[in-house]
Amino acid sequence: MRVRGTLQVPGDKSLSHRALIFGALSTGASRVRGILQSADVQATAQCLRAMGVEIPELSDTMSVQGRGLQGLTAPNIPLDAMNSGTTSRLLAGVLAAHPFTSTVIGDASLSRRPMRRIARPLMAMGAAVELTSEGTLPMTIRGGKLTSIDWTSDTASAQVKSAVLLAGLVSGVSVSVTEPSASRDHTERMLRAQGVGIISEDNRIALSPASALHPLDVRIPGDPSSAAFLAALAAASEGGEIVLTNVGLNPTRTGFLTTLQRMGALVELVDRGEEGGEPVGTVRVRPQGLLGRAVGGAMIPTMIDELPLVACLGALAEGETIIRDATELRTKESDRIAAVVANLRALGADAQELPDGLRVIGNRRALHAGAVTTFGDHRLAMAFAVLGAAAGIDVAIDDRDCVAVSYPAFWGDLAAVTQ
Ligand code: S3P
Repeated sequence: MRVRGTLQVPGDKSLSHRALIFGALSTGASRVRGILQSADVQATAQCLRAMGVEIPELSDTMSVQGRGLQGLTAPNIPLDAMNSGTTSRLLAGVLAAHPFTSTVIGDASLSRRPMRRIARPLMAMGAAVELTSEGTLPMTIRGGKLTSIDWTSDTASAQVKSAVLLAGLVSGVSVSVTEPSASRDHTERMLRAQGVGIISEDNRIALSPASALHPLDVRIPGDPSSAAFLAALAAASEGGEIVLTNVGLNPTRTGFLTTLQRMGALVELVDRGEEGGEPVGTVRVRPQGLLGRAVGGAMIPTMIDELPLVACLGALAEGETIIRDATELRTKESDRIAAVVANLRALGADAQELPDGLRVIGNRRALHAGAVTTFGDHRLAMAFAVLGAAAGIDVAIDDRDCVAVSYPAFWGDLAAVTQ
């Protein structure tokens, strides 16, 4: 299969959630261009609207009318984060610092995901947070004036870090979060652009109290996690080139592109620049025989959402691909270790689960048509679609519509570059 095309992938999901939430907390109107119009971001918009924030239909150029810090009103319905971990966890930090009671709910997948990781620091700051006995949603938060905290998180999670930073910000107290290795730093960059004092040193992020947030005027770059699918397809194809314009290249998000290069693909980053405090550029990818590689350690958080795709590429590469230090994958939209291994095997690949990752021995010729179970997980649907297209095998995906969570135009874009 050959590929060809120049594409602009949709806006970054992490930045889109943050633009809505931080815009809602600002004093004045924020202008947001290039927001991701997907189900996850709709969930954040709906929750904020339920607390009095004026947010029009999501569109390419839109405004968010800020209500100031602590300006949200008590919702009279449960806040439905749907499939979105970012919505539930970032909003929890904001809700914990507001003097009202709210309940956050989610779909079946989100209702299985761990929430104690945010409940613990927020309770230590003085909020009352109730979860199920499994530590999952529904989550009821009785918020109020919180106290300062120096929190040490045992996982490198931008969602945990952001929840604590937002709780401190809205309450007007200083907070710090120390993480085992650096997670994505979009919250820090965006809040700094809004006038907040944040210092990062040796994986410790400290926020100073701010009296108000300046509104945003931001253009959101393309999502590197969405770009990854097309980059992987180009890398594993038989010829051609895919060019992806205006992709976010924040170093806390580029682990996948580095890995693709280490696997042997020809990856070029050109037209590099900056958009609203975030590095951006054009990514050009051409194929070259892929080699299996090991990934682990501090690289993992910089490519956490792309690891299912790395495993799929491993099935097409020569030699062994091994992913370690990635226990977090078991807590994502699905258990991505168990699900990826089971699906790879269903297509004839030699794959094995490890407690903290997985191992795949590449062999293109062993792959055959088969059925993939996504558990409604958008990243699994897209990773296995790329594997099927690159290997030239029929892959029947049980839930094609779940790509709407992060990349609604995925199927059209995939067809466009493979024609
Ligand atoms: C995100 C952080 C990551 C990532 C998720 C988005 C964010 O989760 O997997 O898709 O926007 O902060 P964790 O922080 O839980 O690792």
